[in-house]
Amino acid sequence: MTMTRTSAVSAGPATRRVAIALHNVTKTYGSGETTVHAVAGVDLEVQRGDYLAVMGPSGSGKSTLMNIIGCLDMPTTGAYLLDGVDVRRLAERQLVKIRNRKIGFIFQNFNLIARTSAFSNVELPLAYAGVGVAQRRERALVALQRVSLADRVDHLPSQLSGGQQQRVAVARAIVTEPVVLLADEPTGALDSKSTVDILRLFDELSAAGRTIIVITHEDEVVKHAKRVIRMRDGRIVSDQRQAAVDALPPQYALSAHAEAVAS
Ligand SMILES: Nc1ncnc2c1ncn2[C@@H]1O[C@H](COP(=O)(O)OP(=O)(O)OP(=O)(O)O)[C@@H](O)[C@H]1O
Ligand SMILES: [Mg+2]
Repeated sequence: MTMTRTSAVSAGPATRRVAIALHNVTKTYGSGETTVHAVAGVDLEVQRGDYLAVMGPSGSGKSTLMNIIGCLDMPTTGAYLLDGVDVRRLAERQLVKIRNRKIGFIFQNFNLIARTSAFSNVELPLAYAGVGVAQRRERALVALQRVSLADRVDHLPSQLSGGQQQRVAVARAIVTEPVVLLADEPTGALDSKSTVDILRLFDELSAAGRTIIVITHEDEVVKHAKRVIRMRDGRIVSDQRQAAVDALPPQYALSAHAEAVAS
């Protein structure tokens, strides 16, 4: 029954490249005098392979919107289709599954499990997804290699630098091959060198075709995105494109060009 419902709202061929579609989404907290319109009517379509930066003043609704996109929260009104699936129609159990399979989340404070190794942190989403032990091991190691931490797999988070911890968080976010990577101020707690490392990593993931949405207050981060959205009072007030969806991310393209010139 639920399968039928889900497939009934699946995207057809014409919309297959749309990873995320929000239609007049609102999120309201409280009621009466204390009502907060955290998201006040957002329409947004994100194509597969796009790389978005989301900016806006504190309290403008960026994290609230991100939590809806990440299925951590439900819209008060409006529609949200993730990879063609209307998430409002899903039962909690299916939602947990979708979140695990289709979303990779990266937070400012890494949110790693403190008492377990880098390897175990990265392996965990695969364990939740029911992947067998051998495959789990292999995929977790590949993800840690991807973020250049193959030599730190047995380290606890407390034995890693901030930048390294965030790279573990990126490995954990990509290990399930999600449809979209969501990052809420991923470089907010990092020094400039670690910020450069994370941004290079995002560029590489974007160049490899991943869909990325990053909330940030930093111009340095914005330069890397293909598209920049600005929010104010729960609404999108500007939407600028810096590179085509299918193009390489702008800074990656520049550095590739610089390398080609140098060699
Ligand atoms: N659980 C909640 N209950 C009540 N109000 C909330 C809740 N979560 C967020 N808000 C309110 O919704 C508005 C948007 O908050 P949100 O966290 O999305 O802002 P933000 O753009 O991410 O800000 P920042 O840049 O400071 O992280 C704020 O006014 C906030 O106080
Ligand atoms: Mg926020």
